Amino acid sequence: MSAPTDLPPDRDPPGLIIETPRLVLRRPVRADAERVAALANDAGVAENLSNLPHPYGLDDALAFIDNTEVGPTRWNLGIHLKDEDAGFVGVAGLMPRDGERFVLGYWIGRPYWNRGLATEAAQALIDFAFSRLEAPAVSATARVTNGASRRVLEKCGFQYAGQGMGPSLYHRGMVPIDRFRIERSIWTSIRNWAKTGVGA
Ligand SMILES: CC(C)(COP(=O)(O)OP(=O)(O)OC[C@H]1O[C@@H](n2cnc3c(N)ncnc32)[C@H](O)[C@@H]1OP(=O)(O)O)[C@@H](O)C(=O)NCCC(=O)NCCS
Repeated sequence: MSAPTDLPPDRDPPGLIIETPRLVLRRPVRADAERVAALANDAGVAENLSNLPHPYGLDDALAFIDNTEVGPTRWNLGIHLKDEDAGFVGVAGLMPRDGERFVLGYWIGRPYWNRGLATEAAQALIDFAFSRLEAPAVSATARVTNGASRRVLEKCGFQYAGQGMGPSLYHRGMVPIDRFRIERSIWTSIRNWAKTGVGA
């Protein structure tokens, strides 16, 4: 997919870039807009996020790209797959919400589901939050119906922290959500798990 040609240049330089074995997490740029629009225009994505417009067009993608904040309080990064010449496959971010400073959010385009990509991106952002932003804890929410997102959070070491209601632009109202949290002490423990030799 090519970028629309009659657009002004991107607003900001890339800034933060996080690399994982399969992914590059970086600010999305205007050249990504058509891929962003194609993957975001999916009811199965929108219904699980709090504020993704649906239907979702190129103008939505360009507005998202132009308004993306990469620090100092909101960290929104495009997820790009190295295997596909760094093609955009989703979004992961950390943002303040409901009195919490570090709330993790993410989505992956449907063709790329169930390859462990959300988990890989989320783990990188969690490491970033604890090691670079000195977060005391990272929070997340998922709709009670969202088993895949719950599983991602479990694989990242999050613990269940109760139920609540959260906004849904797609449903034009509030929907039941589960809350999750990982404390710094748990993250430190997971990172330091001793190499026991058992099962090696
Ligand atoms: C949730 C989402 C981000 C997961 O992305 P992903 O890259 O497929 O996630 P991963 O591959 O890292 O992990 C998915 C896990 O969920 C499991 N899973 C998939 N569908 C599931 C379901 N319906 N119920 C329970 N588990 C499910 C997978 O088997 C996998 O677990 P495993 O590794 O133990 O097998 C993706 O489906 C998505 O973007 N959905 C729409 C938007 C969204 O829900 N965002 C999160 C908002 S809280």
